[in-house]
Amino acid sequence: MEDPAGRRVDYGERHLVEEDLAATPLAQFEDWYSRAVAAGVVEPNAMTVSTCGPDGVSARTVLLKAVDARGFVFYTNLRSRKARAIGHDPRVALLFGWHATHRQVAVRGRAEPVPRAETEAYFRSRPHGSRIGAWASAQSEPVDSAAALDVRYRELAGRWPDTGSPTDVPVPEHWGGLLVRAHEVEFWQGRTSRLHDRLVFCATGDGTALDEPGNWSRERRQP
Ligand SMILES: Cc1cc2nc3c(=O)[nH]c(=O)nc-3n(C[C@H](O)[C@H](O)[C@H](O)COP(=O)(O)O)c2cc1C
Repeated sequence: MEDPAGRRVDYGERHLVEEDLAATPLAQFEDWYSRAVAAGVVEPNAMTVSTCGPDGVSARTVLLKAVDARGFVFYTNLRSRKARAIGHDPRVALLFGWHATHRQVAVRGRAEPVPRAETEAYFRSRPHGSRIGAWASAQSEPVDSAAALDVRYRELAGRWPDTGSPTDVPVPEHWGGLLVRAHEVEFWQGRTSRLHDRLVFCATGDGTALDEPGNWSRERRQP
C-alpha cells in the first residue's frame, strides 16, 4: 500500500473566525451541514459514535436522522453493543468528518432514548426492506453465516409481506432512536501549516438546548 506518512493535503486558507461563528451550535451545525452537502460530501449525515461500555471503549458509524434544539438523533438496535454500552454509561462522543471541506464537528454529550412515538413514526417512514431488516438482525451478535441471515430475512418478509402500508411491519421493541444531548460542540476548520481553527461551544449550565444562545459560552482552542 501507499505510505500514509507521505500524504500531504493542503487545507487552504479558509478560516473559522469568531465573528463568523453563528449565535448557536444548532445554527452553526446547520450551516456547515448544508455546505458539506453542497460540496458533495458522501453521506454527510454519517457520524462516528464512541461509547464507553463495561468492557471498554468502542466506536462505529451511524446515520444522523434528526438534529434540532434537543440534540442529535440516530436509530439502532437497542440490544446492540452500542446500546448496551450507553445503558452502562450514557456519555458519548459524536464525530462528523467532512474531509472534502477540511472540517470536522466533534460533539460530547449524553444519550437517551427518543420518545417511543417518534421512533414509531420514523420506523414507519423506512422502506419495507429496512423494516424487515430491523427484525432480521440481532445486531452485534455472532451469526454462523450470511446465508442464515438471508433465510431469517425471507421468513420475516413472508410473515409481513409488503402491502404498501407503513404499518405492515410491527415496530420492534428492541429498535429505536437515541438522542444525544450535547454539552460541547466543536467546529474544526483545517488550515495551512497545521494552524487549524477550533471554535468550541460549551454549555454553561444545565441547559443544553442547541438553539438557545444563552446556554453556551465559546472558546478557541489550540490546534
Ligand atoms: C455509513 C454507515 C452508516 C451506518 N448507519 C447505521 C445506523 O444508522 N444505525 C446502526 O445501528 N448501524 C449503522 N451502521 C452500522 C454500524 O457502524 C455498526 O456496525 C452497527 O451498528 C453495530 O455496532 P455495535 O455492534 O457497536 O453496536 C452504519 C455503518 C456505516 C458504515
